[in-house]
Amino acid sequence: MASSNLQIDSGRLWRDIHDTAKFGATPKGGVKRLTLSEEDKKVRDWFREACLAAGCEVHVDELGDMYALRPGRDNNRPPIGFGSHLDTQPTGGKYDGVLGTLAALEVIRTLNDAGIVTEAPLCIINWTNEEGSRFAPATMGSAAYVGEYTAENILGRRDVDGVSVAAALESIGYRGNEAMGARKLGGFVELHIEQGPILEAENKTIGVVEGGQGIVWYDGTITGFASHAGATPMALRHDALLALSELALAVEQAAITHKAVATIGEIKIENASRNVVPGDITFTIDARSLLTEALDKMDKAFKAAVAEIAARRGVGIELIPIWRKEPTIFNADYVEAVAQASSKLGYASRRITSGAIHDACNLSMAVPTAMIFVPCKDGISHNELEDAKETDCAAGANVLLHTVLKLAGV
Ligand code: GLV
Ligand code: MN
Ligand code: MN
Ligand code: MN
Repeated sequence: MASSNLQIDSGRLWRDIHDTAKFGATPKGGVKRLTLSEEDKKVRDWFREACLAAGCEVHVDELGDMYALRPGRDNNRPPIGFGSHLDTQPTGGKYDGVLGTLAALEVIRTLNDAGIVTEAPLCIINWTNEEGSRFAPATMGSAAYVGEYTAENILGRRDVDGVSVAAALESIGYRGNEAMGARKLGGFVELHIEQGPILEAENKTIGVVEGGQGIVWYDGTITGFASHAGATPMALRHDALLALSELALAVEQAAITHKAVATIGEIKIENASRNVVPGDITFTIDARSLLTEALDKMDKAFKAAVAEIAARRGVGIELIPIWRKEPTIFNADYVEAVAQASSKLGYASRRITSGAIHDACNLSMAVPTAMIFVPCKDGISHNELEDAKETDCAAGANVLLHTVLKLAGV
């Protein structure tokens, strides 16, 4: 078949998405597949087998990133990389990450069926720990791939139970031996659900992603004073939770003022008890904007709020930035390749920016990179209710196919 008319097999992609959703399926129809867990091992094993069956070689790096390589006609050229991630949030859906990884597999199968060999080799990638819910930071594998962290730095990080990344990789058999970044790529393309409401609201099938928000993660602690809930008068308390409540409102205000978004997503009261005034709290902040300046201004506002609340309430507050990724602008030629593939296929599209962080944002620091978005129902993601249409997933995979064909050459 001529490559210009080629279409992926939508039913096969849909079956793969739903078959793999059984690894970590939740009663509410979502997926809980924390990175490097037993469920992650199962989906990785499935993915490895499927890639081998599609004729790829599968390689694994020191942080468990998986590379499925399909030779081209000119194997001196670096491969065009495409893919996403297979880990999920604790209450994740069936599409976040999975769509982009399985659509990449579907692209290879489609090329196999049509007997098409590209000029440059192709490489499907499953990045380790995109989500960041078990180990921080998010997009850990791709960040180390582009040299933001050393493998040693990441391998020593621990989850809440004290398990290190190194131990977790070893326990599921995915601590590979390729050095980080050793497998050079010519470029990278990631298909993903939008995770927001814009495409659906505007009846567009494809989002041509031009860039993405920058992000800062903070770890915080508040040290108040634990005391008797009945016998301590209100005026004499140093309540860590009340200090955090005020800080949470200040974080909201800073985000609104700077047209950004910010979230306190984790809170833990140490030794919590119904009749003890909270003494010690740990918490997190996730702050994002398309503008570096807004990230800086929010940082200033958070610090000012911390100083004021701590002094007035007589508590200690520590706020430590643990991860910062500047806003992303994708490569103009790659973005144009996505736009052209979409218009050639006749899909309604619009340019869009990403609210979520993605492995592609890291890759763009090293190689030309672009992303393709498809709509998801009501813009819901990071939730078991996450949903997407078979036709939209297929459209995204077709745009991925034709973008990759253009970039790799046929
Ligand atoms: C990753 O899922 C993010 O938080 O954007
Ligand atoms: Mn994702
Ligand atoms: Mn996610
Ligand atoms: Mn994400």
